Amino acid sequence: MTPLVEAVDITKHYDARHGGMFRAPAPPLRAVDGVSLSIMEGETLGLVGESGCGKSTLGRLLIRLLPVTGGTIRFAGTDISGLEGKALRAVRRSMQIVFQDPYGALNPRMTVEDIVMEPLVIHGAARDAAARVAEMLSLVGLPARARDRFPHEFSGGQRQRIGIARALVLRPKFVVCDEPVSALDVSVQAQIVNLLRDLQGELGLTYLFIAHDLGVVKHISDRVAVMYLGKVVEIAGKASLYQAPRHPYTRGLIASVPVTHPAQRRRGAGERHRLEGDIPSALNLPSGCRFHTRCPFVIDLCRQQEPVMTGGADGHLVACHRAQAIG
Ligand SMILES: Nc1ncnc2c1ncn2[C@@H]1O[C@H](COP(=O)(O)OP(=O)(O)OP(=O)(O)O)[C@@H](O)[C@H]1O
Ligand SMILES: [Mg+2]
Repeated sequence: MTPLVEAVDITKHYDARHGGMFRAPAPPLRAVDGVSLSIMEGETLGLVGESGCGKSTLGRLLIRLLPVTGGTIRFAGTDISGLEGKALRAVRRSMQIVFQDPYGALNPRMTVEDIVMEPLVIHGAARDAAARVAEMLSLVGLPARARDRFPHEFSGGQRQRIGIARALVLRPKFVVCDEPVSALDVSVQAQIVNLLRDLQGELGLTYLFIAHDLGVVKHISDRVAVMYLGKVVEIAGKASLYQAPRHPYTRGLIASVPVTHPAQRRRGAGERHRLEGDIPSALNLPSGCRFHTRCPFVIDLCRQQEPVMTGGADGHLVACHRAQAIG
C-alpha cells in the first residue's frame, strides 16, 4: 500500500540572524531536523510534543504551506517538495489545515458564507458554490441561518466549526489539524474531536492531528508520533505507544498527563519518568541524543552519538540507545 503522505528526511531551517551587520553569521534554527514518516490513506497520525518542538512547522511542510530546506515530500506517490506555481496550487487543493485559534483565523469582516466560499473562489471552483457552502455548514452542524452572520457572533466551538467547513469545502484528501481544540473550553473539546472523527469517516479524510498533550490525541489517533526538538523520537500504533512507550521522553509525557481518577493516583506512580529541566534551544542543540540533558537514563554514549530510529515488525520505532536496557 502506498502512503498518502510520505516525508523522507525533511528539514526546515529558519534564518535566526538578528543584530548588527558585523556579527558573524548565526547558525540556523533547526525547527525540523531530519524527519521521516508516512501517513496511510484514511488514518489519523497524532503528533505530540512540547511547545516549540516543531509540530506546526512539520505540519505546514507536509502540505507545502512552507518550503522545505531539505528532504522529500511525496503525496499519493508524487514528489511535491519542489513544486511551484500552478502545479503547487493544484496539489494544495487536496491538502488543507484547521488552525488552533478559531478567533484569529477567520476574517472578522466576512460573513460565514464568504469565509467558507473563499477557497472555492480562489481555486476557480465557484460553480454551485452557494449550494456547496450550505452543504458544508450542515455537515459541520451549523444552522443554515449562520450563513449571513459574522465570526464574532459565534462561540469558540462554533467558530472552529466554521474553520473546519472552510478547510473541507474543497474536499481535500489530507487535513492537518493543528491543535484544533487547544483554545477551546474542555467541555467543547470532545464535541469538536468527535465532529472531526465523524467527518473523517464520511469524507474519507486522512489526518495529521497535532496536540501538546497525549491525552487529546488518544481517542482520534490510529498511530502517534512523538516529537522532541525538531525530531520524531518515537512512533507507534496507539495501543503500543500508550501501553508500552519506549522513549524516556514519551514516558515523561505520559507521566505528565494529569490523572483525574483517584484510584489511578497511586503514590509515586510514574514519578521516575516525570519530565524535568528546561528544553534546550533549537539554535544550539545538545550533542548526541538531543534529549540527553533531561533524560534520567543518560549514559556516556547518549552524549556522543545520535540514536537512529529502530524497531520491529510491529511498526513501533524509537530513537534511543537505552530503550532495550530500560525495557
Ligand atoms: N517563521 C519563523 N521564523 C523563525 N523561527 C520560527 C518561525 N516559526 C517557528 N519558528 C521557531 O521554530 C521552532 C518550532 O516552532 P513551531 O511553531 O513549529 O513549534 P510547535 O511545536 O508548533 O510549538 P507550539 O506547541 O507552541 O505551537 C520554534 O523554536 C520557533 O520559535
Ligand atoms: Mg504549533
